[in-house]
Amino acid sequence: MAGRFKSDLKWSDVTPEAAFLDRRALLAGGAAMAAGLALPRGARAGALEPNTLEEITSYNNYYEFGTGKTDPKAYAGGLTTKPWSIEVGGMVEKPGNYDLADILKGKSIEERIYRLRCVEAWSMVVPWNGFELKDLLDQVGVQPGAKYVAFETLYRPEEMPGTRYPVVPWPYREGLRLDEAMHPLTILATGIYGKPMPNQNGAPIRLVVPWKYGFKSIKSIVKITLTDKQPPTSWNTIQAREYGFYSNVNPNVDHPRWSQATERRIGGGLFSPRIETQMFNGYGDEVAGLYAGMDLKKYY
Ligand code: MTE
Repeated sequence: MAGRFKSDLKWSDVTPEAAFLDRRALLAGGAAMAAGLALPRGARAGALEPNTLEEITSYNNYYEFGTGKTDPKAYAGGLTTKPWSIEVGGMVEKPGNYDLADILKGKSIEERIYRLRCVEAWSMVVPWNGFELKDLLDQVGVQPGAKYVAFETLYRPEEMPGTRYPVVPWPYREGLRLDEAMHPLTILATGIYGKPMPNQNGAPIRLVVPWKYGFKSIKSIVKITLTDKQPPTSWNTIQAREYGFYSNVNPNVDHPRWSQATERRIGGGLFSPRIETQMFNGYGDEVAGLYAGMDLKKYY
């Protein structure tokens, strides 16, 4: 399976050696600004060097544990993630409460290095471990009339201090159109850098849809429902004008309160330049066809 897609990047594909060495030299040298100015073009454009595990696990959005970027790391440690099961229902042939261990049986877990672009205009590059959502949907059998997939996060207030505040309606909810869900770039991730998924990143299993803003990548999933109606999503429910159902990364459609044209790569240092955000987060060759003929200003 590995290597089937252009965006199924490997370390060697994403790290032009010169840019990589320059960045390491930059970090080691500590003369961030001087060295930053000397960086070659590729590095300035934000070569896809994966972020460190430390960066990926220290700056998170997981509002069930608080709205601060460091809250998930501070408060998610107490989340019980074993045993874990996912209730799969709605328009499927084999509904049921599936134990995660059973879901994972026979699945090939691969590494996918994907950009994560947050709606707040920062981004990271993460080496996820996971399998295609399609593998699970095929296993449970999608009924012919199904058009959408709805997801829900665990809601367990005693372990999730952030749920005392009505930031979004809990449980956190997300949804995809069925063709987006079946797309080979859409994965259920169970780890990062070959290690089990850290709690703050959505243990034990979370969605990753690399061409959409990060908030579509719902964490700690306990429920998956196939439906013929577009499902409500948490952010769309509270702020429909700011967060649409599709939420494709699109530098041409601004968030009502800020531009989405550029982003700041986490870990780049204080003086790292903002980089231009790419349409569909750079995955356009693979996914643009899903939206052929759609007005993406209307369906944002
Ligand atoms: N899932 C749940 N259940 N709760 C959340 O608050 N935040 C989303 C998404 N999934 C969120 C969530 C947002 S806004 C982003 S940007 C990503 O998770 C962040 O993923 P990361 O912390 O692994 O970088």
